[in-house]
Amino acid sequence: MQIAVIGAGYVGLVSGVCFASLGFKVSIIDKNEEKINLLNKGIIPIFEEGLEDILKQNRQNLNFSTKVEVVKDADVIFIAVGTPQDSKTGKANLKFLQKAAKEIAPFLKENTLIVIKSTVPPKTNDDFQKIIEKSVKTKVYFASNPEFLREGSGVKDFLYPERIIIGVEDDFSRQKLEFLYAKIIANGAKFIVTDITSAELSKYASNTFLATKVAFINEISNLCFKLNANIDDISKIMGLDSRIGTKFLQAGPGFGGSCFPKDIFALENISKQHKAKSHITQAVIKANEKRIENILQHIQNISGSIKNKNISVLGLAFKAGTDDIRSSPAIYIVEKLLKKGAKINAHDFKALQNAKNYFLKQKNISFFDNAEDAIAKKTQLILILTEWKEYIQIDFEKLLNENKSLKIFDTRNLLKKHVENKRYFSL
Ligand code: UGA
Repeated sequence: MQIAVIGAGYVGLVSGVCFASLGFKVSIIDKNEEKINLLNKGIIPIFEEGLEDILKQNRQNLNFSTKVEVVKDADVIFIAVGTPQDSKTGKANLKFLQKAAKEIAPFLKENTLIVIKSTVPPKTNDDFQKIIEKSVKTKVYFASNPEFLREGSGVKDFLYPERIIIGVEDDFSRQKLEFLYAKIIANGAKFIVTDITSAELSKYASNTFLATKVAFINEISNLCFKLNANIDDISKIMGLDSRIGTKFLQAGPGFGGSCFPKDIFALENISKQHKAKSHITQAVIKANEKRIENILQHIQNISGSIKNKNISVLGLAFKAGTDDIRSSPAIYIVEKLLKKGAKINAHDFKALQNAKNYFLKQKNISFFDNAEDAIAKKTQLILILTEWKEYIQIDFEKLLNENKSLKIFDTRNLLKKHVENKRYFSL
């Protein structure tokens, strides 16, 4: 069976390369020539653990192209284009999806199955079908197959997921998708078949629920500050109740990334559009905004005046394991500190280049490949903003002993078990 994937973004690349590793012939199509050239050289343009190795091992099953007509040989086409947040309305912007529909339509063969993997508002598949059916005379099929990949563990999440969700209207589509995922299902994934609208909505519901857990634990963490209570102990105690579960209860500077913030806003808009008011979604958005403000206030409390302070920032990515800085709390915090006149030395293990590009015209920020180099002798405050485990190797006790005016604020509780010092502050 031949697969085509439209969009070589995070979801398209991980899915396409992993399908190739399952033995399918896969064409990945993207307009971005630079990206396609890199992929043809065997280089993955983003950092994703293990993905480049799988690409190299399965090169014979993969074809990368900028030409959409490649879809003419495909039995199944996965649409994995971006659905970014519209900056004015907060809604998911579907222009890339609509464009993809118009572009593939002339090349579809009889019985092609078109599957939307992008995160899309419920009923999007209906509109997508209308665009295709307007210009296609042959019979084609449609399905929804939302993706639950986490950046940094996308390969594992694709090959060993807890569940695979497909939204279908007929047996033909179900059987095709079941065949494509057969090896993954055999590895233990639950295969859930539902209608297309429920599949579409399940993705927003899942992301928003996870974000709600994070926002909730961060609110409890705010309260812990006031009461001098231990947030890690509370997370553990809550998590041991299997009705609650241990995951997504790690307090931090607020959730970020390319998915949670965008999807929550989209769900909020979908609810509004369908006159089903969503109190919880609104509260989560507010709580996350407040959380970052709260963290900034703590930085101020710990540091005193920010003006001319030498601050070393460890971590810029929105979480560990990725080079992604989109909606990263770390980036937001750095921006605010720069505005207040701080002088910043910044480090990240993977996101340094993206951050350099982002802060291109900014003065008062320097970037370091090595975390120790970012901690200069005159550093007055170290901020840990991303939970890279490698930071634990740094001898912070020694740094605190050598520099008596140094303070550390760990917004990820990464060093809590490793550093005991009055000038070390955690959540
Ligand atoms: C998220 C979902 O977890 C995936 O299932 C989904 O497929 C993906 O969005 C998507 O829609 O494509 P991702 O954005 O990679 O994945 O990041 P997460 O690991 O979910 O973390 C999101 C944010 O929550 C990060 O800022 C992270 O630091 C924060 N977080 C997470 C916490 O602060 N505490 C936690 O306990 C967990």
